[in-house]
Amino acid sequence: MSDRGVAGRGPGPGSGLEPGATTADAGRPDPGLDQPAADALPPAPHLLVTGGAGFIGSCFVREVLARGDGTRITVLDKLTYAGVRANLAPVEADPAQAARFRFVRGDIADPAVVDPLVEEADAVVNFAAESHVDRSILDPEAFLRTGVIGVHVLLEACRREAERAAAGSRLGPRRRPRRAPRFLQVSTDEVYGSVPVGRSEEEDRLDPRSPYAAAKAAGELLVRSYVVTYGLDALVTRGSNTYGPYQHPEKLIPLFITNALDDQPLPLYGDGLQRRDWLYVTDHAGAIEHVLHYGASGETYNIPGGTELANRELVATLLARLGKPWSLVRRVEDRPGHDRRYAMDGTKLARLGWRNRVPFEDGLRATVDWFRANEPWWRSIRTGDWDAWYERQYGARLSHGLPAADFAPGPAPDPGRDEGR
Ligand code: NAD
Ligand code: DAU
Repeated sequence: MSDRGVAGRGPGPGSGLEPGATTADAGRPDPGLDQPAADALPPAPHLLVTGGAGFIGSCFVREVLARGDGTRITVLDKLTYAGVRANLAPVEADPAQAARFRFVRGDIADPAVVDPLVEEADAVVNFAAESHVDRSILDPEAFLRTGVIGVHVLLEACRREAERAAAGSRLGPRRRPRRAPRFLQVSTDEVYGSVPVGRSEEEDRLDPRSPYAAAKAAGELLVRSYVVTYGLDALVTRGSNTYGPYQHPEKLIPLFITNALDDQPLPLYGDGLQRRDWLYVTDHAGAIEHVLHYGASGETYNIPGGTELANRELVATLLARLGKPWSLVRRVEDRPGHDRRYAMDGTKLARLGWRNRVPFEDGLRATVDWFRANEPWWRSIRTGDWDAWYERQYGARLSHGLPAADFAPGPAPDPGRDEGR
């Protein structure tokens, strides 16, 4: 296998991990597994990374550019409340990386911005989305605009470029004929809906249950339709719950870390026995890049984390690492339609040669350390509209919340540990 993908390399800058924190055999494909036939991208490709100022997108950009293998990246990001230009500061501060990087502020649903950027790209990696389930319950519309119309605009631009490539009029450097752009849609395990037992496989039925998940499923279906109808070179990845440095503090792990650092209550929904499968952000970004290079067109790849925990267990572990008491936890009104459990089968991705590298304990330690060390970053996000959002989401919940003492942490029942699938 070529070493051009992220596979086989340690986590890069901003991961919060020292190189020694990786597992010994990380990134190396097991002998006997399917090996990718060939790299689908040209050498030193130019990538259009949409949503590249967000949590996972910016990690992808930092990791790829830090490698210095000639890859160039244009980020297109609307800079919504979740997009943070400073997430790309490490790239812009390094002259060698900055020379291969460009930032464009704009909306993926705007063809006037999108079309010329897709014209010059070898591949489009679409991270752009409204990504928070709770916000989708309060205000679904932006989720549909970006998740459906935005994806449609990107696909249309790719379709036009594919037609130009077929006609021989799409030209690259030195006016050589250039392949059609490859399109990768970053999707989520939430499209499968709640999975009480077993693990979701790629061909399983989609059963989204929140407006966020429904928008993501719609985006995927559009991608599939463009593969079938127009023969577009496109793929989908479905990642599990991702955590790490630079994650917006609205999400469970960074919200609970930052609240706990301030000795503020931690609003745990319902009985806290919902189960999630945790994936460190450099592993998610690395798997996406691996699929971008080696995945087969038209295919979907699950990206599981490999660490399934009940929320209660996760919070207890987090508090122990922070040295903060369980008494900070408040049991609050549940999220409507709250999915009980996500779990995915990762065989297909493993057969493509990808292995996660960051064990959960290392990832969680690095995340806690990063938030401790980067207080100005998260305090600047928890300003402006933050208080109004927090009050709307948690005000009534916390005022009716129960203290933690009535459900002390402990090992939760585990309906999902049937490794058979
Ligand atoms: P995020 O909210 O941190 O970042 C999203 C980025 O997209 C932001 O920079 C935002 O400004 C940008 N954006 C939003 N709408 C846009 C638009 N119309 N045009 C251009 N840019 C726009 O999200 P994240 O957690 O980094 O997730 C990235 C992707 O990965 C999303 O598609 C999400 O559905 C998917 N995903 C996330 C997770 C997770 O646990 N965080 C897991 C699986 C999949
Ligand atoms: O599974 C992948 C998905 O993971 C991604 O597609 C989404 O973009 C991402 O936001 C994440 O969705 P979740 O809803 O699982 O993540 P969140 O961090 O919001 O919540 C994780 C769990 O913690 C979930 O069971 C709800 C619970 N929770 C969350 C918050 C914010 C609480 O109990 N209290 C909270 O305040």
